[in-house]
Amino acid sequence: MSTAPAAPAASAASAAVHPTYRELAPGVTVLGLLHEGHRINVYDAWSAERGCRCVAKALRPDHLDDLKGIRALRAEGRLLKTLDHPHIVRWYETIPGPAPVLILETISGSTVSALLDSYERLPVGDVLHLGLHLCSAIGYLHRKGWLHLDLKPSNVVAVAGRAKVLDLSLARRPGLGKAGAGTRGYLAPEQALGQRLSAATDVWGIGGLLYECIVGKPAVPHDGDTSTATGNRSTRLIAVPAPLRTRRRVPTQVARMIEATLRLDPAQRPTVAECATVLADALGITPVPHVAREG
Ligand SMILES: Nc1ncnc2c1ncn2[C@@H]1O[C@H](COP(=O)(O)OP(=O)(O)OP(=O)(O)O)[C@@H](O)[C@H]1O
Ligand SMILES: [Mg+2]
Repeated sequence: MSTAPAAPAASAASAAVHPTYRELAPGVTVLGLLHEGHRINVYDAWSAERGCRCVAKALRPDHLDDLKGIRALRAEGRLLKTLDHPHIVRWYETIPGPAPVLILETISGSTVSALLDSYERLPVGDVLHLGLHLCSAIGYLHRKGWLHLDLKPSNVVAVAGRAKVLDLSLARRPGLGKAGAGTRGYLAPEQALGQRLSAATDVWGIGGLLYECIVGKPAVPHDGDTSTATGNRSTRLIAVPAPLRTRRRVPTQVARMIEATLRLDPAQRPTVAECATVLADALGITPVPHVAREG
């Protein structure tokens, strides 16, 4: 079994800018480039202290003094440090300095986006489990007072039947948002408009992910650019998701729940706990200890 996720092939240009086997920070050696972002790169790395592979999030070598990137890395590290959950990526440390480096556990599996690229859709049973794991992780995050705000297939890794949520770089407290902050194609309407962000915004994210896994297409069609942005998206990104029409055997109450998560009005969406209840019932898992049942 491999101990690290498959690294996307690095282009010749990025191989020159991101040489492997260089020391990113004392005791942290780059083994490969996993993801090249606008400000921040994600590396497959080796931690000498731990004697194991890890994932390192660091400023791009050509953006070492990028203040927004520095603040984002520090903020993500500060939040991850306070979290401890089986369905959220584990933080090891933030190496301080003018160019901080976040060291995370390597989740050896495939992102949901890679699975969808390979198989187009996921088996319905797997989607139900994935949904429960997302509800577990996001419910925990909400109880800690945070919203994720960037739930999308590339920010979830599935490994050995277990889903783990990544990328808390956009996480913030509930409240007024900046219009368009998030990922094109994965913005809840209130995110696109810069309105009040709440737990319901992540409910949209959970539902959108489940929709895409079942149907094989995003709930809100987009042009394929799914990188994270920090604002200035236009309101035309608001679109009413198509109804979940599929010939697949999706339990009716699950299909209804997913459609309800994608309602334009956040107040009309179910809660995370209600979504978890529907998913657990469909899986025949009862009782679900963390879900308060009514009636
Ligand atoms: N801990 C991890 N284990 C395995 N793979 C990871 C891990 N963290 C990140 N990755 C890989 O790197 C990719 C990018 O990571 P992440 O989403 O945290 O970076 P990002 O710069 O915030 O990305 P974006 O802004 O495009 O969403 C993920 O989609 C995943 O493929
Ligand atoms: Mg990401």
